[in-house]
Amino acid sequence: PQGATVQKFAELLGVAPNDVIKRLFMLGQVLTLTQSMSDDLIELISDDMGRKVRVVNPEEEYAVVYNDSEEDLKPRPPVVTVMGHVDHGKTSLLDAIRETGVAEREAGGITQAIGASVVDLNGRQVTFIDTPGHEAFTAMRARGASITDVVVLVVAADDGVMPQTVEAINHAKAADVPIVVAVNKIDKPGATPDRVRQELTEYGIIPEEWGGKNMFVDVSAKKRLHIDDLLETILLQADVLELKANPNADASGYVIESKLDKGRGPVATVLVARGTLHPGDTVVAGTSYGRVRALIDPRGEHRDEAYPADPVEILGLNSVATAGDEFRVFEDERDARKLAEERALRKRLKQQEASHMSLDDLFNRIE
Ligand code: GTP
Ligand code: MG
Repeated sequence: PQGATVQKFAELLGVAPNDVIKRLFMLGQVLTLTQSMSDDLIELISDDMGRKVRVVNPEEEYAVVYNDSEEDLKPRPPVVTVMGHVDHGKTSLLDAIRETGVAEREAGGITQAIGASVVDLNGRQVTFIDTPGHEAFTAMRARGASITDVVVLVVAADDGVMPQTVEAINHAKAADVPIVVAVNKIDKPGATPDRVRQELTEYGIIPEEWGGKNMFVDVSAKKRLHIDDLLETILLQADVLELKANPNADASGYVIESKLDKGRGPVATVLVARGTLHPGDTVVAGTSYGRVRALIDPRGEHRDEAYPADPVEILGLNSVATAGDEFRVFEDERDARKLAEERALRKRLKQQEASHMSLDDLFNRIE
């Protein structure tokens, strides 16, 4: 049993706290303002007061079943997440792939958030997601693996397998995502790419040339060595998966990054997983909702449509969404608002509950 304090509950329902306490008393429950009510009590008392309150299970809400038939499904671009230990060269590798200079512009050289980019490889789109190597971002990286089709595991040839290399392997395995290994920094004097291969066998990552099923490519992000080989390997791996999605549906997907922009308000970067997203759509993203005012792609261009595997910034949400949250388009703006507000309420109750003892805890203590 979980819930809100008597005070919070009265506040949320807009009734006098004393009235709640009285009704609780008549049910044989002696509670003070700051004590928690269980879910059952919340529903019971609400009912008693002529209100219908359903305590929703957040897990259930997410269980949206999509029923796409075989002909609805069209080929879609792969989503590739670059993972690995801090400083092993994830961002540099993406720079080499994009031929840009993000790593040099980053404060302190540590990637602060998941960045998404889209690369055109001989007319084929590949969506890349960069993940920070810093320990504080473990939770975000866990999400990175669940929205991805292929993981590129970057291991520095002069440093070998490190704690966050193992973490990345575990995330990829948990998400059942194939791993392509990029052995990076082979230009460095102390580089031993074969030792990296040897070390990885301990974690079940075995090169194809050794009879395993993982593709390895030795690269140097800095010297731009074998980047083409790596891209070819990624496409090869993606082809095997025969990735498909239904583009003709209301859009849904995941928030991969979110911030409050001074000029533009709340900005959520989302990855479309299914359907097509348009400006004007009503969207719920976690506890945020709103009408999409604009869609902006990683190149900074406004878009009229975003398709499966497209990362886009959404402008127009009422608050800052949380990375990892699901987003979904709603036909009815009131439904969207209701769900977002219900979730926000639930989140507040949870936070509240964390700071108070539950009724059961209290009884257990008395006994
Ligand atoms: P985090 O985002 O902090 O986890 O780091 P990262 O994995 O993105 O590493 P980043 O690309 O920022 O590179 C870390 C350092 O390694 C930088 O100083 C790069 O210049 C250097 N580096 C990256 N790739 C290579 C390479 O192939 N060779 C050499 N010599 N240095 C490299
Ligand atoms: Mg980085």
